[in-house]
Amino acid sequence: MTSSSNSPKILVTGGAGFIGSHTVVSLVEAGFEPIIVDNFSNSEQSALNGLRAILGRDVAFYQADCNDATAMEAIFQKEQLAGVIHFAAYKAVGESVAKPLMYYRNNLDSLMLLLELMPKYGVKDLVFSSSCTVYGQPEQLPVTEQTPRLPAQSPYGNTKAISEDIIRDVVHAKVAIRALALRYFNPIGAHPSAEIGELPLGVPANLVPFITQTAAGIRQSLTVHGGDYNTPDGTCVRDYIHVMDLAEAHVQALKKLSEQPVDTSYDVVNIGTGRGETVLNIIKTFEQQTGVALNYTIGPRRPGDIEQVYADVTKARNVLDWTASRSLAESLRDAWHWQQKVSA
Ligand code: NAD
Ligand code: WQD
Repeated sequence: MTSSSNSPKILVTGGAGFIGSHTVVSLVEAGFEPIIVDNFSNSEQSALNGLRAILGRDVAFYQADCNDATAMEAIFQKEQLAGVIHFAAYKAVGESVAKPLMYYRNNLDSLMLLLELMPKYGVKDLVFSSSCTVYGQPEQLPVTEQTPRLPAQSPYGNTKAISEDIIRDVVHAKVAIRALALRYFNPIGAHPSAEIGELPLGVPANLVPFITQTAAGIRQSLTVHGGDYNTPDGTCVRDYIHVMDLAEAHVQALKKLSEQPVDTSYDVVNIGTGRGETVLNIIKTFEQQTGVALNYTIGPRRPGDIEQVYADVTKARNVLDWTASRSLAESLRDAWHWQQKVSA
């Protein structure tokens, strides 16, 4: 895949990570020119190799820390950027409880530096990675963007709520930035080529990587965290979205932002499928789709878990002209193909 010299350049912070790397593919497919900056704190060179295999060419890459003002300013000086998608952040909820300052520094300082550099270099458009974690356990389901944010249950979650507020305040200060914060629900799956996917460090905390590692024999058994919730089968409900659907939402966000007036435009949009799935249904669908029987037991509840959360996706349809199109079955097949590739 090629791009022309006048393709709009988009800075993709954290572009070697799980969601960032898939978004790089969608950006190129849509005619944008991604410029990745990543410090590999939670990713590897292999993601860039995977991108090369998919795209048939290299994507511009800077190995730098998004908190390094000198390095970041040099990138803004060199590249004539049209926009920024800010993925780079630490995201492990449990670690954020143990190391809150590390999370506040990394996730907030990097955002504030971008918000200083963007107006200085005439870069207007920002898409930010927020999270459904800002809703906590909502009283009404599905959650709309009007559903009140609840006090964050972790420093990680708090960085997302604070980041949203920082962006809103900066946009409203009329510095010529327009921004969308996308509240992702649970991203899963991988690119269908299995050249890129999720690379959890150590024992995965998230459900689908734990399932695929169990199926691959890396983990002995999966524990379902709680079977006595007030849900159809007693296990927690989430909105699992294919990472390529999520990637495409970012492209739509950039396109729609460019049509908005500068200075007044800040909005938040839920990015999910609108479907709530139980843990047991994820296991059953995985087994059906892959033919692999999973060794699992039902254990106690995981402290801090939300019983149920899934998105109302009306706003995404109306504002972004986007809906998720891939099925749960496809997401789980792609996750499994990726796992087979990395554990081969
Ligand atoms: P990831 O860890 O795979 O990707 C993040 C990337 O950012 C990594 O490649 C990491 O090396 C890089 N990075 C972190 N700090 C950096 C820094 N200071 N400078 C340069 N690079 C840095 O995570 P992901 O799952 O792709 O998540 C991307 C974004 O989406 C994050 O902001 C995350 O909080 C948010 N999010 C993720 C989920 C999820 O379940 N994966 C859900 C909601 C929101
Ligand atoms: C999903 C379901 C578990 C592992 C986390 C973050 C959140 C957001 C998305 C970034 C739950 C169950 C899991 C296992 C299990 N990330 N489970 N056995 O908890 O919805 O959210 O990722 O913003 O902030 O907290 O995702 O994948 O950890 O869990 O039964 O071994 O699977 O209890 O019901 P979660 P998850």
